[in-house]
Amino acid sequence: MSQGEDTAGDYEKWDFNEEVELEKRKRRKMPKGALSFLTSSPERAVALLYVLLAFTFLLFTILTIVNLRRVSAAWEALEQARQRSESSHTTAWHNLSDVQSALDKQLSGQLKAIRSRLQNVSQEVENVRWKVTQCNAEELSGRLRVLEQRDALEPVLRQLAEVKEEQSRASALLDAALEETRNLSEILCTRCPAGWQQFAKNCYFFSTDTKPWRAAMDSCTEFNAHLVIVDSEQENKFLANRIMENRVFWLGLSDAHKEDDWQWVDGLPLPLYFRFWNNGEPNNVGHQGEDCATILPNGRWNDATCSNTEPWICERGCCPRRASKTGLNQQKP
Ligand code: BGC
Ligand code: CA
Repeated sequence: MSQGEDTAGDYEKWDFNEEVELEKRKRRKMPKGALSFLTSSPERAVALLYVLLAFTFLLFTILTIVNLRRVSAAWEALEQARQRSESSHTTAWHNLSDVQSALDKQLSGQLKAIRSRLQNVSQEVENVRWKVTQCNAEELSGRLRVLEQRDALEPVLRQLAEVKEEQSRASALLDAALEETRNLSEILCTRCPAGWQQFAKNCYFFSTDTKPWRAAMDSCTEFNAHLVIVDSEQENKFLANRIMENRVFWLGLSDAHKEDDWQWVDGLPLPLYFRFWNNGEPNNVGHQGEDCATILPNGRWNDATCSNTEPWICERGCCPRRASKTGLNQQKP
């Protein structure tokens, strides 16, 4: 045998061995029972396949039913949830509508109140405007009337003013003339009656007789005079200088109407700053009291009992036609 023939024989041996080896491996991989069952008969294999198919179908059906139940439960839960949500929505909507209606009511009430207030205010404004208009109209017509009257009265008023002016001028002239006449008479009146002494523009009579205060006052009146009224310190000094010896004279001063309320015979009160009382006077001593004033030689005054008899001093103006002190109001102690 040749070398080529040997090589071809080798190859054939190798293929055969390879196929055997593969067949061995397949047999090793396949389970022995099933393999034997399948390989035992094709009919059995078909039956087995049918069984498997039926089992698979059954399993599929069961799984489908289970899944359908699950789906239906989920669907129910979803439906309930939807219903719940719907009911909660409805409730919320109801609540919301309730709140809205309450708010609407409240707002409409407030609106009504505001509207009525506004109405009141506008009425007030209207009233005020009307009053203002009325006032203005009345005021204007009043002013107009006044102006008209003024216009009508203008000439009369002017004449009246002129007359008044004339009158005041005449009155001033009259006053001046009267003053001149008075001065002239005072210049002419330089002498006091016999027994009377002059000081400034007055005449004084110092009595030598003595009388109670009231009688002394009456005596002065007979001479168209009055008990002396002291108006100044100079006058008081003049009187004191004329008092000779240790005598006192009645003054025209008394508090007979009210204790310690000293008044001159003309009714004027004795000023607090113008008093020449002696030390410790007036002391109102004695059971009758002392309500009539005297002047001492030193010019100081004393209150004495009015029923005492003392000399007195009368006073009157230089001109007999004119009273020496105005407003003479003699008293009766
Ligand atoms: C007193 C006076 C009093 C007089 C009466 C004098 O001693 O000093 O106050 O009026 O007596 O006579
Ligand atoms: Ca006295």
